[in-house]
Amino acid sequence: MSDHDREYEIVLWGATGFTGGLVAEYLADRYGTTDLDWALAGRDERRLAAVRDSLADSNSDADVDADALDLLTGDAFDQDSLDAIAEQTAVVISTVGPYARFGSHLVAACVDAGTHYCDLSGEVHWMREMIDEHHDAARENGTRIVHGCGFDSVPSDVGTLFLQSHAEETVGAYCDEVRGFVSIRGGSFSGGTIASMVEMYEMASEDREVRRLLADPRALDPPESRGAPADRPQRGVAYDRDADTWTAPFVMAQINEPVVRRSNALLGHPWGHTFRYGESLRTGQGVKAAATAAGLAVGQGLLAGALSVGPVRELLDRYVLPEAGEGPDRETIEGSSFEVRLVGTGASDDHPSGFTVEARVRGDRDPGYGSTARMLGESAVCLARGEVDSPVEGGVLTPASGIGLPLIDRLEGTGVSFEAEVVDD
Ligand SMILES: NC(=O)c1ccc[n+]([C@@H]2O[C@H](COP(=O)([O-])OP(=O)(O)OC[C@H]3O[C@@H](n4cnc5c(N)ncnc54)[C@H](OP(=O)(O)O)[C@@H]3O)[C@@H](O)[C@H]2O)c1
Repeated sequence: MSDHDREYEIVLWGATGFTGGLVAEYLADRYGTTDLDWALAGRDERRLAAVRDSLADSNSDADVDADALDLLTGDAFDQDSLDAIAEQTAVVISTVGPYARFGSHLVAACVDAGTHYCDLSGEVHWMREMIDEHHDAARENGTRIVHGCGFDSVPSDVGTLFLQSHAEETVGAYCDEVRGFVSIRGGSFSGGTIASMVEMYEMASEDREVRRLLADPRALDPPESRGAPADRPQRGVAYDRDADTWTAPFVMAQINEPVVRRSNALLGHPWGHTFRYGESLRTGQGVKAAATAAGLAVGQGLLAGALSVGPVRELLDRYVLPEAGEGPDRETIEGSSFEVRLVGTGASDDHPSGFTVEARVRGDRDPGYGSTARMLGESAVCLARGEVDSPVEGGVLTPASGIGLPLIDRLEGTGVSFEAEVVDD
């Protein structure tokens, strides 16, 4: 596909939603309408026009010309409308979720049209379905379908790629194991994220295959490595000596860990067939940190238990959890931050007693929305401009295998940063 034979570089599908609105704001702020050819898309033209007007009004510094921002309409279940959207653009960003409910026709449209695609899906069972249905066709026509371009799974996945490339450059070998320690200050969830979680629990309670997939640490691996041994996500409290911290289970490990394994597999196992990746929430040192980790472990277990019971799930969804279109307020988004510290260990002929390399991925906004809008927006810009460094030409991919290190360059100066150093050799 030539990137220049399309009307737009990027179409943002779902611009009227909570996260879609943040991505629109981010693109308008960073690129205006002069440095990027992009359009807003959704199912309701009036609401799209309202988003466009608010972008033009609130961006007095950026060059946002409301007339230059086209509005495209369609419906997640109307294949013709999605085909028409996919044919006009080099890249589609989708923030219309739950993806298992709303996402499949759009991915099919993008693969058919040879249009690159990126989203925020953390729905492992749906990603597996897209891999099974579209990976081969997308590989053959060079289309990059890249799931997980937000907080799940860019820090874990591109962070691990970054750490490994630093290890190779400085120590001359890759790490055999990488462990991620996640710290989040503040933050909250939107209605769409909650809907996606609730729907995943619902599908798991009704469908044994979904349950099996969600428990499979290699759920996203290609067929060759699908059955290979791999660690399950951490379930209880643990103390990590290398990172010197107490840890609790991290709810997104169930997504991020299989994504990192798929990256290693798609890249041709550069980090080895026995490479291990795991992540957890970091709570720090001392008795208080141990108690916090225990509290988090119990709390997450209780929430998962509650969401597994149909009537409790319905009650929580109806009366407690945020509605579609709702999400954290601006103060929460701007006052929150995250850090993912990745610790890689390995040994080689030159370093027989071992070496340790660390990377830190930081975001100065909340992880799920403020920082996610930047990661997703810049993923799309990389795809649109061919700023990709990967031996993989196309397919249903991960951020590391579908885009790679150029995403880090694009994110420079946006508030999402990557650093790496050798700490012990
Ligand atoms: N991985 C991450 O880091 C991360 C972070 C944030 C969000 N997410 C995911 O992003 C997704 C969106 O979350 P959100 O909170 O932004 O959701 P939201 O506010 O509810 O927005 C959903 C969007 O979907 C649109 N939509 C619904 N039905 C449609 C249909 N039939 N055809 C076309 N469009 C339709 C809505 O359009 P209307 O406005 O017209 O209703 C809206 O634009 C969720 O799956 C969530 O899990 C992931």
